[in-house]
Amino acid sequence: MSSSRSAKDFFRPLAVGAPTPLTEIPARPSRAIHFFDPSNEKMAGKIPGMVGTVDVLLGNLEDAVKADNKVAAREGLVKIGQSTEGLGGGGTTQLWTRVNALDSPWFLDDVMTLVPAIGDKLDVIMVPKVQGAEDIQYVDRLLAQLEAKAGLERPILVHAILETARGVANVEEICGASPRMQGISLGPADLAADRRMKTTRVGGGHPGYLVRQDPNPDQPDASRPTYQQDLWHYTIARMVDACAMHGIYPYYGPFGDIADVTACEDQFRNAFLLGCVGTWSLHPKQIAIANKVFSPSVEDITHARRVVAAMGDGTGAVMLDGKMEDDASLKQCLVLVRLAEELAA
Ligand code: GLV
Ligand code: MG
Repeated sequence: MSSSRSAKDFFRPLAVGAPTPLTEIPARPSRAIHFFDPSNEKMAGKIPGMVGTVDVLLGNLEDAVKADNKVAAREGLVKIGQSTEGLGGGGTTQLWTRVNALDSPWFLDDVMTLVPAIGDKLDVIMVPKVQGAEDIQYVDRLLAQLEAKAGLERPILVHAILETARGVANVEEICGASPRMQGISLGPADLAADRRMKTTRVGGGHPGYLVRQDPNPDQPDASRPTYQQDLWHYTIARMVDACAMHGIYPYYGPFGDIADVTACEDQFRNAFLLGCVGTWSLHPKQIAIANKVFSPSVEDITHARRVVAAMGDGTGAVMLDGKMEDDASLKQCLVLVRLAEELAA
């Protein structure tokens, strides 16, 4: 996540007007953001061996870390950041953290500890339960002050989790709230609770959320086919549009049913097809699923390259395998070709 800008560019007076989208930040692969609990010694001990096997390692300080372990998690992350070769700060695997929420008693100490200690290694800070632009602007200002104090050259980027109804209503302003904005993830568990959805799962579908085929006099009701619908389609589509508008990256979030690798792959693929660039991994086996799903397939790349070649100067229309291709389908193909190039770089 290298940038031509320095941390000083972020230390600026208040009320600077419209934020600049982060379009000049080159995409670094972040197909799988693998969560670990730095207070869990067994998990933390495996981190050095995971460098190079996953795009992002994220030290989680928020939910899933017990209140009594918050300080140990923070300190564990500092130790890992300071001692792990190749992790963060332009290394082979990015180092992210998910800090505690802004309304928690731990957020301020999280940021005040991490930035001076491992600010040169931390690529992205994930902020949970973001409600509006003001949350991001506060984090942006605080980071700017701490970076200036620590003499950091490289700005730490910010990633928001979309997991409140108010956050969804404000998603466009959140995406554009600061030039530090790197991306947004869906937080389906907190969002479901905040919206008063009647589900008890962490991401994924629900067998009760379905449509049934129309009645047929020759068919008993019970055998009429049903089709399960995607609970998260609306939110993901909204998040993708807001991110595209501001030149930042959309991500699926957690898929809690670790054993159901098939449903996990399906859910990740829906998000990929809708425009997401990556997802969270809560277990090492989800890393492989994410890497596969969020990399375009060989067949898709081959087809996309054929369309690019057939379209010559990129204008007009051609027939390929009986299908019409034109300027617009060329643009879709270029999305896949460019993604393949970025992942291969
Ligand atoms: C993630 O934080 C979620 O609430 O789903
Ligand atoms: Mg959450």
